[in-house]
Amino acid sequence: MSTDRKFVFLTTLLLLYSCCSRVNSSDVSSIPKIAKYFGTKGRYEEVNPHLIADILAVNKSVIRPPSPQCRAIRLTAIIRHGTRYPTTKNVIKMLRFYEIVQKASPTAEDKGWLREIREEWTMWYTEDMDGRLVQKGIEDHRHLAVRLSKLFPSLISAENLRRGHIRFITSSKHRCVNSTLAFKRGLAELWGIREGEIDHTVNDALMRFFDQCKKFLDDVSDNPNALYEMDEFNVGPEMGRVQEKIADRLGVPYSHITADSVEAAFYLCAYEFAIKTVNSPWCQLLDEVDAQIMEYASDLKQYWKRAYGYEINRKSSCILFHDVFSRLEQTIEDYNSGKPVSEAVTIQIGHAETLLPLLTLLGFFKDSEPLRSENYASQTNRTFRTSLMLPYTANLVLVLYDCGGGELRLQPLLNEKAVDFPGLSSMPLYADVRERYKELLQGCDFETECQLFNKTTEN
Ligand SMILES: *[C@@H]1O[C@H](CO)[C@@H](O)[C@H](O)[C@H]1NC(C)=O
Ligand SMILES: *[C@@H]1O[C@H](CO)[C@@H](O)[C@H](O)[C@H]1NC(C)=O
Ligand SMILES: *[C@@H]1O[C@H](CO)[C@@H](O)[C@H](O)[C@H]1NC(C)=O
Ligand SMILES: *[C@@H]1O[C@H](CO)[C@@H](O)[C@H](O)[C@H]1NC(C)=O
Repeated sequence: MSTDRKFVFLTTLLLLYSCCSRVNSSDVSSIPKIAKYFGTKGRYEEVNPHLIADILAVNKSVIRPPSPQCRAIRLTAIIRHGTRYPTTKNVIKMLRFYEIVQKASPTAEDKGWLREIREEWTMWYTEDMDGRLVQKGIEDHRHLAVRLSKLFPSLISAENLRRGHIRFITSSKHRCVNSTLAFKRGLAELWGIREGEIDHTVNDALMRFFDQCKKFLDDVSDNPNALYEMDEFNVGPEMGRVQEKIADRLGVPYSHITADSVEAAFYLCAYEFAIKTVNSPWCQLLDEVDAQIMEYASDLKQYWKRAYGYEINRKSSCILFHDVFSRLEQTIEDYNSGKPVSEAVTIQIGHAETLLPLLTLLGFFKDSEPLRSENYASQTNRTFRTSLMLPYTANLVLVLYDCGGGELRLQPLLNEKAVDFPGLSSMPLYADVRERYKELLQGCDFETECQLFNKTTEN
């Protein structure tokens, strides 16, 4: 058997095993009703449901170049790490909430799911899990690697990999490094290449720019008032109602359930599902109305901490923005001079915090009204929904095409679906993309925007 077929065979066995041993993956009842509201704790499959039936399926019709002549000449992928354990901070919230549920005195009318939480479910999350990548997260990246190579076979190819034309850059966080290793393994297995032969570089300046942007740290990250809108929402009437409903379902006094408890209940359902693909009894604590409110709270956080809320959020990604465009320019230069394109593919693995500021800088998902604590109802149809934008393994892919006669086009894909740069047609001319982002290309200087060398003596 060829390595390729062996891989498919093993994958099939694995799928069969996971389907029939514990989880019936085609059984919709194993998916919590609230799974589509998990925000950044969401499963990639919720955004691409066809993957539930076949994790290696690709939809080639999403890449429909304007003419059959178009040839892909470069690909950049900026990818969030795969499914991970909760961070220590969230594990602590989950442990506290678990204790509250355990201590509440059982009543005769305890529903089945409540008895299940109290008597059968055991707390297995520990503080040392600290956001590490889980097995599912390894698979997320292995599978994404295979799908992207199926979508762009001329770029993500064995030949390009062997020749070193595929470049890997990762954040130093263990969950990102391990995601990178998993992505590489996916390709190595596909083509019978030894993984050790594929290099990657760690680059936090690019993939964790937010840690190095002084103005962002001062004004947003370390500013206790920056998330005012989220804080207000968390003590507002919508969230209050969710707390009461959870208290009622548990049969405990309202005073026992805080905003943290609600968050913990939501996380317990989300993590049990993301990590183990189970619809756990915790999911019974929230209905869809509650989950939409939780999703809004999470969107408020991302909006104000990483997106349109403050100008510096998007500007903190200037360094990555320029890096993306300078790699494109390098490819075009190589290509136009008839040289082989030395770096045909760049795979860059980072965080939701890496992707969101960049998506915002590019103008994606901008609603006419800002997300605020008091406009939950009028934001029902907002485009800014982290559940759709930023599940685990979320990815922004940019593909450069030569459509003949030097006509270059650039196509953006988000989570393997075609999207349009705001204000541009689908698969626009590269020249139009440059024009659209002219001001950023000419400015958007990381050191200036982030006030790295603020001359205080001038004042
Ligand atoms: C899985 O669920 C589907 C749909 O509910 C059902 O048709 C199928 O028989 C189930 N498979 C197993 C192995 O239980
Ligand atoms: C594939 O993509 C096309 C175009 O975006 C869409 O109409 C179609 O529903 C997709 N098919 C699947 C199975 O997702
Ligand atoms: C992740 O990487 C670390 C080293 O960086 C390693 O010790 C650990 O075993 C890896 N975890 C998984 C799940 O592969
Ligand atoms: C959201 O969209 C739905 C369907 O188009 C519409 O009925 C509803 O009025 C919209 N809600 C708001 C708040 O704009």
